[in-house]
Amino acid sequence: MNRMQDAHPVTLRAATPDDALCIGVLATQVFLDTYATEGIRPAIAREARATMAPEVFAPLLADPANRFILAERLGHLIGFVQWKPDQPHAMVTARRPAELQRLYVLERFSSTGVGTRLLRAAEADAAKGGADLMWLTAWSGNARARAYYPRRGYVDAGTTSYSFEGETFENRLFVRLLDAVNS
Ligand SMILES: CC(C)(COP(=O)(O)OP(=O)(O)OC[C@H]1O[C@@H](n2cnc3c(N)ncnc32)[C@H](O)[C@@H]1OP(=O)(O)O)[C@@H](O)C(=O)NCCC(=O)NCCS
Repeated sequence: MNRMQDAHPVTLRAATPDDALCIGVLATQVFLDTYATEGIRPAIAREARATMAPEVFAPLLADPANRFILAERLGHLIGFVQWKPDQPHAMVTARRPAELQRLYVLERFSSTGVGTRLLRAAEADAAKGGADLMWLTAWSGNARARAYYPRRGYVDAGTTSYSFEGETFENRLFVRLLDAVNS
């Protein structure tokens, strides 16, 4: 995308259950772009279908405990952030920790500021709701994410892991205090 010539505004809004189809398809594309770095094999194909299908997002969207903010341009979904209040983590000390569960922007629209707008919107909503810290985990092999969050105020708080289908992957834990947000 030519960033300099794109005058179409990107708008943010809260998701509704009707958005499950587009969120699931966008999430599948971004997931594969990010994690299928060697191509597709059965384990990652199953993981993509099991965690990113529209049918998986529909009940999450229907439960108000899950918060989704969408980024749209010309009526099309180009990214979303998913977060959840009051999610403890063994390595996180906070009164009201919120978890940033997914920040996904279509590659075609990356590096245009959409991710940062979504991230800041989630942090502002979380702080407004009383959260004092946002945490997230990112795959250690995701160099872009590992560079991205520290530039946005997140501190690397150590190593965690994620397992599926008998394989274990190292993740980094990132945290950001939300004290300064909204003040
Ligand atoms: C990581 C990710 C969320 C970043 O989203 P993004 O929309 O590209 O992020 P931004 O555009 O806000 O910022 C990225 C870079 O673009 C540049 N940028 C931001 N706004 C810009 C603008 N208006 N014009 C030109 N460049 C811009 C910045 O230089 C920034 O780099 P920096 O970190 O050195 O400051 C996105 O790449 C993504 O979805 N990746 C795949 C999924 C993933 O890994 N998610 C995170 C783990 S859950």
